[in-house]
Amino acid sequence: MTGFSIPTDILEFDRFSQFVSQEKVNKDDLIITSERTYKHFIEPMKLDAQVIYREKYGKGEPTDEMVDAILSDLKTKTFERVIAIGGGTIIDISKVIAVSKADDCVDDLYDCSEKLKKIHPLIIIPTTCGTGSEVTNISVINRVRKGVKMGLASEAMYADKAVLIMEMLDSLPYKIFATSSIDAMVHSVESFLSPNGCSISYMFSKEALKKIIIAWKKTMDCGNKSEANEMYTNENWKKYASDFLIGSNWAGIGFGYAGCAAVHACAYPLGSVYHIPHGQSNQLMFEAVMRKYKEIQPYGRINELEKVIADCLESKVDDAMEALYSLMNQVLCCEPLHKFGIKEDELSVFSKNVINTQQRLLKNNYVNLTEEQILEIYKFAY
Ligand SMILES: [Fe+2]
Repeated sequence: MTGFSIPTDILEFDRFSQFVSQEKVNKDDLIITSERTYKHFIEPMKLDAQVIYREKYGKGEPTDEMVDAILSDLKTKTFERVIAIGGGTIIDISKVIAVSKADDCVDDLYDCSEKLKKIHPLIIIPTTCGTGSEVTNISVINRVRKGVKMGLASEAMYADKAVLIMEMLDSLPYKIFATSSIDAMVHSVESFLSPNGCSISYMFSKEALKKIIIAWKKTMDCGNKSEANEMYTNENWKKYASDFLIGSNWAGIGFGYAGCAAVHACAYPLGSVYHIPHGQSNQLMFEAVMRKYKEIQPYGRINELEKVIADCLESKVDDAMEALYSLMNQVLCCEPLHKFGIKEDELSVFSKNVINTQQRLLKNNYVNLTEEQILEIYKFAY
């Protein structure tokens, strides 16, 4: 067992301009970002840093082909620091770039993950409130060539600095707020239930969960909902944006030590095969996994979890999980898997795939799950 530590400095600013002047961003820096973030925050600062846009290399979550294309283009560039400004995809790509030598490709990195070294200092600025990836050492890449979505983990991929800038959430669309905050909530729950946590990681997971669900409740209690499409007109969450950004960071610290588990493991095929956004795919599996845990082992840390949730949502302990499912459903309507075009006969393939490729996550389960039980989880969510 390794001790709890965070090698990343965590800085907090209200505005992007404060970060730029403190860190003296310059022409030797390589910024990896989206065009939307560039236009909104970076262009007005007239920086002379080098910039690459993730859109140029494809949509959706990072793939081996996308990262290899970026590494190929970077062969002709000279740069020192890598500055990631974005959501999970940009952060995951940037972690890989920070440890890549000029002639590396993704397959090489997976082959020698234990020997990876930091080549470029890495600064991460999250622009969503979900991944917590700014404080973890994992990069999740969809290895299209191998047909599997896998995490690449290395001490060398920890950021040197994680910078929380409250202003970065200002232009976040509701749907991305919803899916990313659900992801953060799932990180907090999975790491809280993990048997591989410690008292410090559990504290971060618990406080993250409290921050997120209390902010969700306040958002939904005072939201300005329209009947036509209440989910996408609710801007009220922005009043609590800093709670969501900090909650996501604390959940990242929690799962960075204790790990995520079956919800993430079962969600991966939905992301890699059906391209459902990461946070949403976690939502689709969350209730089914929690119900299975409760069925198999109704007594244990899950009761502490229920108590924390009940205190936040002012419900009875026995009703806490239902109250959380209901609140999460208000944040983003949870649809059954078949609504996404998933075929019922694929569920057994997914179950086998999860058992074969996601042991890194499954070892953090609240209780051990067999392939048959994972199939039952998928069927419940279907
Ligand atoms: Fe996640």
